[in-house]
Amino acid sequence: MRITKTFSETRMVATGQIGLVPTMGFLHEGHLSLIEAARDTNDTVVMSLFVNPLQFDREEDLARYPRDLERDVGLAAAAGADIVFAPELEEMYPGEQLTRVIVNRLSDEMEGPNRPGHFEGVATAVAKLLAGVRPDRSYFGRKDAQQLAIVKRMAAELSFPGSIVGVPIVRERDGLALSSRNIFLSPQERQDALALNRGLTAAADAAERGERAASSLINSVYAEIGAVSDLSVEYVTLASQDLVQPIDELDRPAFLALAAWSGETRLIDNVHLDRSDDGFFADRGTRLRTESVLYRGEG
Ligand code: PAF
Repeated sequence: MRITKTFSETRMVATGQIGLVPTMGFLHEGHLSLIEAARDTNDTVVMSLFVNPLQFDREEDLARYPRDLERDVGLAAAAGADIVFAPELEEMYPGEQLTRVIVNRLSDEMEGPNRPGHFEGVATAVAKLLAGVRPDRSYFGRKDAQQLAIVKRMAAELSFPGSIVGVPIVRERDGLALSSRNIFLSPQERQDALALNRGLTAAADAAERGERAASSLINSVYAEIGAVSDLSVEYVTLASQDLVQPIDELDRPAFLALAAWSGETRLIDNVHLDRSDDGFFADRGTRLRTESVLYRGEG
């Protein structure tokens, strides 16, 4: 395992087919599953670790973002990463940065209006990583469905040569989608939050049984969430996977995505609805069998 600080050093150390796993650190099994997916099909797995200031719309969030390089390096190595590329700010953004990557339309809905400038910051950082590391494949979680769509579109339109691979959501034992924010939930808030996965699962079952109306799929989610009075929902949307546009009818690859607050913690989750031979297959993600590394020691 090597820790690199510059793009040129990273390219020098990496050999053969390169798989890139971009992260902002504070790893959990969702990130580790990306490393494992990259390990399966590449000679060198590079995990980048950079807390990208461009994608934070609030200074406090950036300052509060948890950082623990030693912990992350240990977890990344155990999952099969060969290189942890942890650039300083000056390597990623030397001098004044006048360039931004904006993917129009795909940022308009869902997370976009809630987080001004966020996706511009993500797309700019990812473009920089793709240009600097030059991976053959890059791995992103399906948990951030909109981010995945934006990165795919950006990489295609800017002719980055490698492919972008989406990896299923990893859930905790009780079904809650893994997120570093889960550590902020009180036991009651966590219990409440389980309704999100229950709602999405009910909708996924309905979609696989042949339900196509967005309103009905969305209502299945609300039937579960509505029963928990302390959850506050921001949106539940059925959107196309390619353009992230709301659709009325499940007639193309889509995802049913939501954002909700449990107490002071904002959570997002989704099920991807992929085409199958006889309709749609719901990607509900995978579940851990043991407690997440998030709750181990200081993590
Ligand atoms: O998903 C993340 O952790 C970040 O948005 C990413 C892709 C590493 C870009 O900074």
